[in-house]
Order: sequence, then C-alpha cells, then structure tokens
Amino acid sequence: MPETTLLDFDEPATYSDAIASSSSSGLSSDEETSVIKKEHVKAYTQRKLSTTPSATTFEGIPTRKDHEEFLRNSIEIILKHAVFEGCDKRNKVLNFQHPKDLEKIFDLKLRSSPGTHEELLKLLKDTIHHSVKPGNPWFANQLFCGLDPYGLVGQWLTDALNPSVYTYEVAPAITLIEEEVLKEMRKFVGWSKGDGVFCPGGSMSNGYALNIARHFHCPDIKKKGVSAYPRLVSFVSDDAHYSTKKFSAFQGMGADNVYAVKTDERGKMIVSDLVENIERALKEGAKPFLVVATAGTTVLGAFDPINEIADVCQKYNLWLHVDGAWGGGVLMSRKHRAKMAGVERFSGQRMSLSHLCLSL
Ligand SMILES: Cc1ncc(COP(=O)(O)O)c(C=O)c1O
Repeated sequence: MPETTLLDFDEPATYSDAIASSSSSGLSSDEETSVIKKEHVKAYTQRKLSTTPSATTFEGIPTRKDHEEFLRNSIEIILKHAVFEGCDKRNKVLNFQHPKDLEKIFDLKLRSSPGTHEELLKLLKDTIHHSVKPGNPWFANQLFCGLDPYGLVGQWLTDALNPSVYTYEVAPAITLIEEEVLKEMRKFVGWSKGDGVFCPGGSMSNGYALNIARHFHCPDIKKKGVSAYPRLVSFVSDDAHYSTKKFSAFQGMGADNVYAVKTDERGKMIVSDLVENIERALKEGAKPFLVVATAGTTVLGAFDPINEIADVCQKYNLWLHVDGAWGGGVLMSRKHRAKMAGVERFSGQRMSLSHLCLSL
C-alpha cells in the first residue's frame, strides 16, 4: 500500500451519525452542532495532502477509487485558498507577475501522457494564487465583486449535473427552478405576464434584444435576410455599452446604423436629441426599429429617463430595450427602484402594443 497521510480525517458517515455520536455529551442540540463544527474545522486544518503520486485516468464516469480523493482535495483547496483566504482582506487581491515570469511558474505545455493528481492540485493552487480575487473587500469594481456562497454551490451543482436546459425532459428540476425565478423577477419589474431567459452576460442580453426587436418588426427576416428590408436603425445614448454596436454588426445591420444620442451633464440620454435622431433616420428613408435605454451606464452609472423614452417609442412604434446589466438590480430596492420608473408600464393588455425587453 502506498504511504499516505491523507485519510487521518475521521469523518462521520452522515450528519445524523455525527449528532448521535456526540449525543451522550449532555449538550443542547445547538451546542452539539457547534462542537461538531469546531471538530470539523480542526480536522480540516490538520489534514494534509497525500504525498503519493496517483495517475490521472481519463474516464467518462468518475469512480470513488480513482477520483474521490482528488475531488475532495480539490474542493478543499478551492475552499481554503479561493474562498476563505481569497475573501480575507488581510490578503492581496492579486499577486501580480509579469506575463513572462508567470509563464515560467506554470507548466502549461499540453502533453501526450497523463500527469498525476498531485500535479493537477499544484496547478489548481498556483492558478488561485495568481488570480484576481473579486471576493476580496479591497477589490473595488462597479460591475462585480464579492463571492456569494449560495451562488457558488449552485454553480458547482450545475457543473456536477451538467444538464442542458433545452427541454423539461432533460432538466426537469432545473427547468422548474428557472421558471420560478423568472416569474419572481417579472414581479420585481411589475409585469403580470411575460417570458424570460437567462443570458450569459450583458452583451449577449443586448444581442438577444436586438434580435427580438428586429423579429418583431421584420418577422420573415430569418428567411429573406436583411436585404429584403430598408436600412434598420437603432438608437442608444453615446454613454451606452458598445455591445449594441457590436451585435448590430454581428447581425448584419452594421455598427453605423446604431445612432448615438447625446447625453446631459449627468450622462442621461437627452430625449429631445433622441427624437431628432429618429426624425433624421426617417428622412433618410431608413427604418427605425429599436431604442436601447440604459439603467446604469458603464462608466457614470447614469439612468436614462425610461418613462419619457417609452413615450417616444410609443409615438414612433419602436421597440424599447432597457439594458439593466449594471443598474437593473435597483428594482429590488424600495429606495432606488424609482430610478427605473417606466419599466412596469408594458404589462398585461398593453404587452402586444408595447415592446420592452429588460436585461438584468
Ligand atoms: C451597461 C452595461 N451593459 C452591458 C455590459 C456588458 O456586460 P458583459 O460584460 O456581461 O457582457 C456592461 C458591462 O460592462 C455594462 O456596463
């Protein structure tokens, strides 16, 4: 048998076993839980990694014999270094190295023969050590920070199950979870009806919105292509995120056909300039189809006046998309949700008349 110092962690088989084994102590159940927690913490900190190299195996199905120890060690490394130390403000946000030096630290060469679990665990530790820790309180960024422990477990779960969410049959529980969360999110917006989809990021959400708005105005564009229509023009403030232009290019409408609307000194879209731009496009013989308002612009965090913009969209029959990638979360705040006043007005019976797509 190979020598190992790993499995000196005397773990109870189940949580109930743990409770049962400590029940003779005469402590209350809360006290017992706290004793068990302390014992686990002690065992965790004393635990050492195996010194014996074990080869990686490339199988579609993990086995306890080959992979359990590796998986447990990986999780412990992530918990210790990425989660708890990574979120501790006594540690650095980043141990910066010049790319040339960092290249020397990592052995990143792809090889034709398998390595060992120990090599992978070292790579895991090194990767964490040389990564930015957005969960560290010193990481100050307007767009992302923190580490949500429950979100992390959700992420691990979806990776462990690795389902596709395209049909109920292939992902029953997760489909219902998705529906429920979307329903609650619609309530935050103030919509009694509607649909939703989780998108991989703000840019993609804006891309979907462009496509939905275009489909609404040009339902057979999928078959006929853009050349069957006049030049399609959309409008965003000149402080808006560049993704609307990027996706206008991707979808064959052209970045130049996203007209930039002026902003005021606080970075909000000037509605009179929006009207001027729409009139200009109409005079040019183009087809205006979409306005993208921003709830929290990337640099200044400005909220465009959604109500006034929605009035213009109704007058000119334009789809309204609100990019809430940065500031859409204010809908969950009693104090700040007024900044997005107007999002709720496209609900119920008026849904077919009006067109609002919101990305959060
Ligand atoms: C207002 C706004 N919209 C869209 C995006 C794009 O989001 P992502 O980077 O998730 O694609 C950003 C990102 O900075 C943003 O600030």
